Amino acid sequence: MERTEQLRVLKQVISHLDEGTTVDAGGIRHNPTWVYTCPELAEKEWQTFYRDTPQIIGATSDLPEPDSFLTTNDFGTPVLATRDAKGNFRAFVNVCRHRGVLLEEETQGKRSKFACPFHAWTYTNEGKLAGIPKPDHFGKIDFDSHGLVPLPAVERFGLLWVHPKPEGTINLDALLGGLVPEFEAWHWEGLVNFGHDFYDMRMNWKLANDTFGETYHFNALHRNTLAQNFHGHVQAYDTYGRNHRMTLVRREIDEMRKQPEETWEITQGTSPNYFLFPNIQINVTPFGLLLFRTYPRPGDPARSFSRVGFYARPELLKEFGEMIANITQVLADVIRDEDYAVAARSQIGADAGVPDHNVFGRNEPALHHYHNTYRRVLGMEPLELLPG
Ligand code: FES
Ligand SMILES: [Fe+2]
Repeated sequence: MERTEQLRVLKQVISHLDEGTTVDAGGIRHNPTWVYTCPELAEKEWQTFYRDTPQIIGATSDLPEPDSFLTTNDFGTPVLATRDAKGNFRAFVNVCRHRGVLLEEETQGKRSKFACPFHAWTYTNEGKLAGIPKPDHFGKIDFDSHGLVPLPAVERFGLLWVHPKPEGTINLDALLGGLVPEFEAWHWEGLVNFGHDFYDMRMNWKLANDTFGETYHFNALHRNTLAQNFHGHVQAYDTYGRNHRMTLVRREIDEMRKQPEETWEITQGTSPNYFLFPNIQINVTPFGLLLFRTYPRPGDPARSFSRVGFYARPELLKEFGEMIANITQVLADVIRDEDYAVAARSQIGADAGVPDHNVFGRNEPALHHYHNTYRRVLGMEPLELLPG
């Protein structure tokens, strides 16, 4: 985040604190609860947002060195992602070209070649077919046209993007909607992974996004946890195309603001949280970031899962590793045991179908923007802004 933007946001939240105000969406909106339960809509979401949209599959340090690999099958296309001997990030459909068997089963590791368990065709981590047993018995195979099917893959800002379709394109300028200079300024490429978490929930995937979408709940849901360290019911809010940044306010800002402006640090006084449409939350911490990825379970609108990756600057991990791991785990536990737990209770309400809509307050602009973006992409009418 650039310095001028840091100061603008810090001054904005300080002014909110002084005036007892917060961001204002200018009205309220009613969101129908059927969007969390409808199987036809869920299928449309799956095809649009998961089968046919570039996906973030992790961060640079999830492929830490040449010959590292990772696999994922979270969005309908099984992916084998590799870092080749030269350090290039590549991605392929994780399926053998002989009889279509899932090639690599491990989720992460180090390997320069991949052997299929069925008949032992082997592939390099550049996707080339390297060998087949008994070629004289099998028959003539053109090795050049029987490599792994490559997928569009881009590594930038310390994050890994893959398109689920071989013919797809990844245009980060368009996807990030103006966030490119800000993401460049963070220098996330040097971050190191120090853990993962996995939340399998009985709730629609959008409810996971919704729980990140306001600070109105801090003083109630998090009164004994996060509210000790964060000011509740105050935030800054900025949109970038389909995405947004919500800036949460740390109580440390009360001391920081007494110091000269040149010493102010955005991650000391606040916690910026980026939402990258449709399913990514990046929570920036003083040490690095937490990367949340949320996925539906196809065929069941009331089920979803989230993967969380923890990343930090290596020099900080070296010196304060235990403290950073503890603080991060406490934060992740709060999100799982408080935010996600209460979001799952919203699913119970949505399943009941009565009342038939929820209300997004004027102090919850992220929910307005997210749901209207979602509706626009799916060709639905926007939620109307109502006086309130
Ligand atoms: S299916 Fe992979 S080698 Fe036969
Ligand atoms: Fe929360």
